[in-house]
Amino acid sequence: MEKLFINIKELVQVRDKNVKKVSGKDMNTLPTLENAYLLIKDDMISSYGRMDDLNNYKADEIIDCDRKMILPTWCDSHTHIVFSGNREDEFSDKIKGLTYEEIAQKGGGILNSAKKLQETSETDLYKQASRRVEEIIGLGTGAVEIKSGYGLSVAAEIKMLRVIKKLKQNYPIAIKATFLGAHAFPLEYKDDKDGYVDLIINEMLPLVAQEQLAEFVDVFCEKGYFNILQTERILKAAKKYGLIPKIHVNQFNSIGGVKLGVVNNALSLDHLEVLTDEDLQDLQNTDTMPVALPSCSFFLGIPYTPARKIIEENLALALASDYNPGSTPSGNMNFVVATACIKMKMTPEEAINAATINGAYAMNLQDSLGSITIGKKANFFITKEIPSYTFIPYSFGSNLIEKVYINGSLNNNH
Ligand code: NIG
Ligand code: FE
Repeated sequence: MEKLFINIKELVQVRDKNVKKVSGKDMNTLPTLENAYLLIKDDMISSYGRMDDLNNYKADEIIDCDRKMILPTWCDSHTHIVFSGNREDEFSDKIKGLTYEEIAQKGGGILNSAKKLQETSETDLYKQASRRVEEIIGLGTGAVEIKSGYGLSVAAEIKMLRVIKKLKQNYPIAIKATFLGAHAFPLEYKDDKDGYVDLIINEMLPLVAQEQLAEFVDVFCEKGYFNILQTERILKAAKKYGLIPKIHVNQFNSIGGVKLGVVNNALSLDHLEVLTDEDLQDLQNTDTMPVALPSCSFFLGIPYTPARKIIEENLALALASDYNPGSTPSGNMNFVVATACIKMKMTPEEAINAATINGAYAMNLQDSLGSITIGKKANFFITKEIPSYTFIPYSFGSNLIEKVYINGSLNNNH
């Protein structure tokens, strides 16, 4: 089945030759084609070009874009979309001035979400998460990574991962699962932290591997959470099962997690709000993608990841939402892109590259998603009538997406 999209005002992020990722100065180049057409066959992109060169092509369906724009769907490489309930009760404490750490010490935070999740059935958890998946598809996301980490017991972590697996089976967008058993220490291990690390290594990891529930492993490497030695033990143990590392690092403190990550060939290192010169140096000449989460900085009122420094050091950068109930109750990648421009001083070109091709790279999806390239999945959105792609981050907060196509089919859920 062929679908032909005609009269596209601008086809954005068109790459004749697939690039794995874009770094440094190259991030400021966003290739586009004006007055274009796009042809898809079944779930794949099969051709594109200028309207002038189209002649009389007969496709099964012709969609007139009426001078609107097309962008590849967002690739959101860091979320915690499977959670139970919300934490809006902590919101008032936050407004009164309590910090993320203080809220956690009061019994809020990750442990609060873990308690809720442990009490929620797999069916109910799936229902709650599926609503969020539908929401982000409507907002233009066509690939997403989802972490466990609100279970914190063998049974609850496995329950979360099974929910992610079911989402993967039932939704057309690309979904990647990450095992984040090391998200926080459960209360009963307060005085035996290494005991919890043992539980992760000896009981959780073998089950995750046996049921093939995750492709990546993640650790919250931070003061008061998992230290360097504990993080290293978990990464090493996970490697034996073929799980690829991603780490929550440098959200509040730089404690050596960046070096540990690159030494262990982490696919991505996420957060990086606090970044030392040594960390920047460690990222040089590696295959590890730094990932910034500006909505988290926005919500918590913490520093933004120094994007300019990262890009000026000729490194790559991806943008993701971090959608979770505690630090980022939003999965809106349009807002992420806008905030990256407004607060991190990324150019629209850099931000769109970071949220598409570099996001795909951070999920190992760069060969099938992240750009308009022949042979890639037909995942893209048609905008409303806008004067330029810059208008997307400029008019933050407006919904400028008219239609979302996933694997070549129109998404009807929004
Ligand atoms: O990425 N920082 C650690 N994990 C999440 C927040 C989790 C929560 O507060 O529930 C994050 O920001
Ligand atoms: Fe996170």
